[in-house]
Amino acid sequence: MNTVRLGVIGCGGMCRAHLGSVGAQSPAISEDLRPFAERIEVRGLADIDLSKAEAYRDSYGGAYATTDPERVFTDPDIDAVLITTWHDTHAPYSLRAMECGKHVLIEKPMAMTLAECDAILDAEARSGVKYMVAFRCRFATGARDVKREIPQPDNIIAHARVDGIWPEGLWAQDPIKGGGQILSQGCHVVDMMFYLAGAEPESVYAVGGVFHHSQPDPTDTINAVVRYKNGAVGAFLGGDGGTGRLMAPHPLPCGCPFFVMVVSKGRSAIAIDHGHDARFHSSDPDWTPPYEFGNHSQDLGADVSSGVPDILPAFARCILQDEAPPASAADGAHTTRFILRCFESARTGKVVPL
Ligand SMILES: NC(=O)c1ccc[n+]([C@@H]2O[C@H](COP(=O)([O-])OP(=O)(O)OC[C@H]3O[C@@H](n4cnc5c(N)ncnc54)[C@H](O)[C@@H]3O)[C@@H](O)[C@H]2O)c1
Repeated sequence: MNTVRLGVIGCGGMCRAHLGSVGAQSPAISEDLRPFAERIEVRGLADIDLSKAEAYRDSYGGAYATTDPERVFTDPDIDAVLITTWHDTHAPYSLRAMECGKHVLIEKPMAMTLAECDAILDAEARSGVKYMVAFRCRFATGARDVKREIPQPDNIIAHARVDGIWPEGLWAQDPIKGGGQILSQGCHVVDMMFYLAGAEPESVYAVGGVFHHSQPDPTDTINAVVRYKNGAVGAFLGGDGGTGRLMAPHPLPCGCPFFVMVVSKGRSAIAIDHGHDARFHSSDPDWTPPYEFGNHSQDLGADVSSGVPDILPAFARCILQDEAPPASAADGAHTTRFILRCFESARTGKVVPL
């Protein structure tokens, strides 16, 4: 295969961010991924709003725009599908795409329920296609530096609280279409937390509930303690209604005050701003940190989507070179399961195995 012929479903804001990499247009794509970005072409685009699909065909090319995702799934000239719709369609569209033999790049969160996670893992194993979740923090320089320097931390502390109260009318706040701020945005930080922990989680105990909204669902506040199978321990704080800017210097280039902090016997580090920047501190005479504060995202300029430009090219590379995706269905399932188990623990008051 010389090129990846791409079908696109859901032509909104995040789709635009990904399609900026088609043909290696974005200057923010990493050098090693550029050759793969050049080998992606858009073939068909679908959205429930035809005008959006047509506008993206005008901008990024493609043989057709449609309101019918089935046309994309069954198109023999499509190798892979990028799914950037609202969250309730992620699992059903993923399953249909794999059934049709298409490779899948799914925006986060991969799934909204435990049953959906299981179904996707099962379909991925049966279909043999490449299935990748668009977790952007794994592509970020600061997070990678932290992982290299402190690969087996004994404490992992994650913060994913945002300043504002998410509007009730926002689709992502809808319990069916979106699942709320913790599932929608917190999932980035949960993924980075597990990536940096380098260990399997064992159990979680959470307190929380609904503090900032009028509806009983979704949960908008979680304060959780996590135990890992290798003996490490950690915490996850997620929700909306305040704290983001208090916890990080602003302005941040990617605009994201979330962070994951790791600690190991006098060595500590914090990955911030979607993992693009990192800070290190040493009280271990045998370890000199690589730098104090990375400013990597500043190096990429004011591109608020930085990190994202590498995702689609990395997906193309794993198809063209038959490599394992950098964020797999198992990673997507870990994240959704963890958040749902936090909700369960907060509801029942019990420690929940993961
Ligand atoms: N990685 C990130 O930093 C990041 C940032 C924002 C959004 N996202 C994710 O990207 C995805 C899309 O979010 P967005 O902000 O682009 O939303 P959006 O509303 O801008 O775009 C979604 C598009 O999907 C279309 N759509 C909805 N349901 C559909 C269906 N059943 N079939 C076909 N099209 C459908 C909508 O008409 C819309 O054009 C979500 O999963 C979201 O969580 C990721």
